Amino acid sequence: MKKDGMKILAGNWKMNTTPEEGIALLEGLSNSLTKDTVGEVKVVIAPPTIHLIPMVEKLWENSEIAIAAQNCHYEDSGAFTGEISAKMLLHSEVDAVILGHSERREYYNETDELVALKVKAALKNHLIPIVCVGENLKQRKAGTFLDNTWSQLNIALSGLSSEELNDIVVAYEPIWAIGTGEVATPEQAQEMHCFLRKMLSEKFGNSDLPIIYGGSCKPSNADEIFAQPDVNGGLIGGASLNADDFTSLVKKLNNS
Ligand code: PGA
Repeated sequence: MKKDGMKILAGNWKMNTTPEEGIALLEGLSNSLTKDTVGEVKVVIAPPTIHLIPMVEKLWENSEIAIAAQNCHYEDSGAFTGEISAKMLLHSEVDAVILGHSERREYYNETDELVALKVKAALKNHLIPIVCVGENLKQRKAGTFLDNTWSQLNIALSGLSSEELNDIVVAYEPIWAIGTGEVATPEQAQEMHCFLRKMLSEKFGNSDLPIIYGGSCKPSNADEIFAQPDVNGGLIGGASLNADDFTSLVKKLNNS
C-alpha cells in the first residue's frame, strides 16, 4: 500500500532537448513545481547527461526537484570510452540514476546481470537506482509476463540486503506500452505491482519500496493508474517533455 513519502514522479527526457531547450523546460518546471504543488510527491527529472551539471547548479535553490542520470557504468573509472561512472555522478551532486531501461536493454544489449552490477555501483556511490523492468508484447500474450518481469528484478537486485532495498525505486514499464500510446490498464499495472511486492517480500523480506509505473502515462490516463494501491507514481517519457503535462501529473499524484 502507498505510504507517506512513497509518491515519486520521475521524468525521463531520453535523448531530447538541446542545452537551451533543456534549460527552458527546467525553468518552466521550476516555476510551476513549488512546495505547494509538489506536496508529498518526490519529483525527479532525468535529462541527457550533458545537461546534468548545469541543471544541478540551476536547481541549487529549488529543493523540490531531484536530478537523475539515465544510465551509468559499474566501474568507478577506467578505459571505458564514452561511459559515465556512478562515482562521477555522485561527485556531480546527481541524486539518482535510471538503470536497465528497456531501450538500453534492447539497443545496447544490457543484460539483467549487467544491470545488477550497475545497481550495486549506484548504491555504493549513494545514488538511488531507479530499476526498470517489464515484459514485451510476446511475453504478455503468452501469459508469462509476471514471471518474466520478476526474473528481471530478482537478478537486478541479487545479492542486496533487505536494508539496501530501502534505497531502491522499481519502475514497472511494459515494453509494449513505452512510447506507443498504448497504456497498461490500471488493473494490469496493479496486478504486476502487487505481484512484485509479494515476491520482494518473500525473497528479500522487504516490500516497502516504491514501485512506479511507466509506459504512455499522461494527464488523461494517470488518475486511474495512480489510484491503484500498489502504484507509487510514474516514470514518464513523452509527457515529461512538456512542463504543463508533467506538472499536471505531479498534482494528480499528490492528490491520489
Ligand atoms: P513514455 O516513456 O512515457 O514515452 O511511454 C516511458 C519511459 O520509457 O520511461
